[in-house]
Amino acid sequence: MERTFIAIKPDGVQRGLVGEIIGRFEAKGFTLVGLKLIIASQELAERHYDIHKERPFFKDLVSFITSGPLVAMVWEGDGVVASARRIIGATNPLTAEPGTIRGDFAVSIGRNIIHGSDAIETAQREISLWFTDAELANWESTMKPWLV
Ligand code: TYD
Repeated sequence: MERTFIAIKPDGVQRGLVGEIIGRFEAKGFTLVGLKLIIASQELAERHYDIHKERPFFKDLVSFITSGPLVAMVWEGDGVVASARRIIGATNPLTAEPGTIRGDFAVSIGRNIIHGSDAIETAQREISLWFTDAELANWESTMKPWLV
């Protein structure tokens, strides 16, 4: 089953948007398989954004992402990687469509609330960076007894 890595960045946590954001993924019908509130280390943040290390915004990005608690999550479902990107909206919140998370809640590219993996291979890399296998739920083996 396809999985993606989603992080509610420190601005989203501080603004009290955790419940709202999780609710959107739940309402869509995706399954939560991993969730933790953590303050990312400098090393973890740099590895996560490794692809941007030569970009001018890299230093600010890493200092922002390590500046406070963030909510790291893994969501599962058919087509979840691309669908989550649509739910999140464009990188620049000013051009993100209303109805998307960034379009509804943000105005600044450097404070855009949420991260979502941009491809299936990226998702696999990011999930293994942020979570151990033991931290991820295996719904197939436990079923969903509270839904029947
Ligand atoms: P990117 O991977 O291009 O976007 P996305 O988060 O939508 O996958 O960029 C990673 C983050 O870097 C982005 O969420 C916000 C930050 N960023 C800037 O601060 N300035 C910029 O010009 C860009 C392109 C990104």
